[in-house]
Amino acid sequence: MGLKAPPDQDVVVVGASGDLSARKLLPALYNLSAEGLLPRRGSIVGAAPVDMDDAAFVDFARDSVHKYSRTKPTATALDAFCKRLRFVRLDPKAALRDLRAALKRPRRVVYLAVPPSAFETLILQLGAADLGAGTSLIIEKPFGHDLASARKLNRTIHTVLPEQRIFRIDHYLGKETVQNLLIFRFGNSVFERIWNRDAIARVEITVAESLGVEHRGAFYEQTGAIRDIVQNHVFQVVAITAMEPPVSFDAEAISNEKVKVLRALQPLDPAAVVRGQYTAGTISGQPVAGYRSEPGVDPKSTTETYAAMRLRIDSWRWSGVPFFVRTGKRMAIRDTRIVITFREVPLHLFAGTGVSAVDSNRLVVRIQPDEGIAVTFVAKVPGPEVTIQPVNMNFTYGSAFKTSPPEAYERLLHDALDGDHTLFIREDEVERGWAVVQPVLDQPPPIVRYGAGSWGPKAADALVAPLHWHEPGEGDGL
Ligand SMILES: NC(=O)c1ccc[n+]([C@@H]2O[C@H](COP(=O)([O-])OP(=O)(O)OC[C@H]3O[C@@H](n4cnc5c(N)ncnc54)[C@H](OP(=O)(O)O)[C@@H]3O)[C@@H](O)[C@H]2O)c1
Repeated sequence: MGLKAPPDQDVVVVGASGDLSARKLLPALYNLSAEGLLPRRGSIVGAAPVDMDDAAFVDFARDSVHKYSRTKPTATALDAFCKRLRFVRLDPKAALRDLRAALKRPRRVVYLAVPPSAFETLILQLGAADLGAGTSLIIEKPFGHDLASARKLNRTIHTVLPEQRIFRIDHYLGKETVQNLLIFRFGNSVFERIWNRDAIARVEITVAESLGVEHRGAFYEQTGAIRDIVQNHVFQVVAITAMEPPVSFDAEAISNEKVKVLRALQPLDPAAVVRGQYTAGTISGQPVAGYRSEPGVDPKSTTETYAAMRLRIDSWRWSGVPFFVRTGKRMAIRDTRIVITFREVPLHLFAGTGVSAVDSNRLVVRIQPDEGIAVTFVAKVPGPEVTIQPVNMNFTYGSAFKTSPPEAYERLLHDALDGDHTLFIREDEVERGWAVVQPVLDQPPPIVRYGAGSWGPKAADALVAPLHWHEPGEGDGL
């Protein structure tokens, strides 16, 4: 990664016995430890209101690393990692006093990997336990439930900690492919010149998951696709795709440009939004249940598992260029991509040669899986006839760098320990994101159904008509 070990400090994971801790945080901390990217001195303190001690937490962490680590753990590296582990059982009545007693260093990062309903109480308890000084806070999504609650949460946090010590996570920003978008745009002279309304006809962003709500039905019922994906991940991707060049590559300069895009992003018109919910269907040949039959879900639920919309960015660069977004669970495949379609050539020179139309150039940024970038252009098919066919130039991380990108959480944890805010979300970004979706939260359009394993409801096609949604496989280099 080209990174260095952050300054000495402890890492506290509140909610250490949970799903996020097991699947992402402990394996990420292990990999940072194995690469020498944790502070040279400092403990990793797990905290949760569960009956665990240090030894049980070590077993839990070993198991998590074996199951979910990006790299195959070695005995030496895992032993060294486990030596750092401590556990504090949180007694809700003791208001984090036990945690305070366990922390020996003047500096620490506290990761709130707890249900969002616990955020405010725990933050106030941090302040009351006199842990404000020396603490940086990593806070998980969802940050608030709507604009009013996000503002309230920001106000509460600021009674305990200043903005410079708050790290709001959006794990999409930890993904190499999302970071690479900045390098792609601002490190290459050919693309930035055509990155505007003069050359670009439309932008399409797809965040498709083939998974359903798994065991998180009760959580998802309160959330839905707009809160879970659009307000945070999608808007961050939109902001990085559409932002102006920052004056430098530091966190403040990048956030300033991102927030300008979010301000230019017009509040959603409910009439330009389609909300869908999956019914039973088939994925990879396996029958799967409909959303309303999932555990923890109301059989009459109106929570959306799919959303599609047309975004409008009223800025000098983007005026008139539609940004189409769709995201859903139980879609045909897992696939996150940005598709930039360029304008057609001004004159069809080949009209008299039997070629009816020339496809527009297209640039596809594959965020996951098969991370990479493809450019589509047309070429003449060899032979006496003038026959034109789209072809691809394709870059894939796997073959170019002979490695798979590191886990987003590794980079994000490292940067928070190092005090670097570049890949985190500032308070004004999160509030503006909520302001944009608020009209749809206030007046949600009715739910339409789509079969699990499809590409979402038919109603979403009308949003992009007379064109169609980009099909995976269409000019994506795969
Ligand atoms: N899981 C993911 O993939 C994922 C992805 C993105 C974001 N997130 C976010 O990450 C956070 C944690 O999610 P999760 O899936 O890990 O949830 P989880 O499996 O329910 O785990 C939550 C953890 O917090 C503890 N906890 C619950 N209430 C608490 C309280 N009042 N004070 C202190 N600790 C408390 C739980 O202890 P008990 O076991 O005793 O309940 C458990 O250790 C949530 O904000 C979620 O939205 C999760």
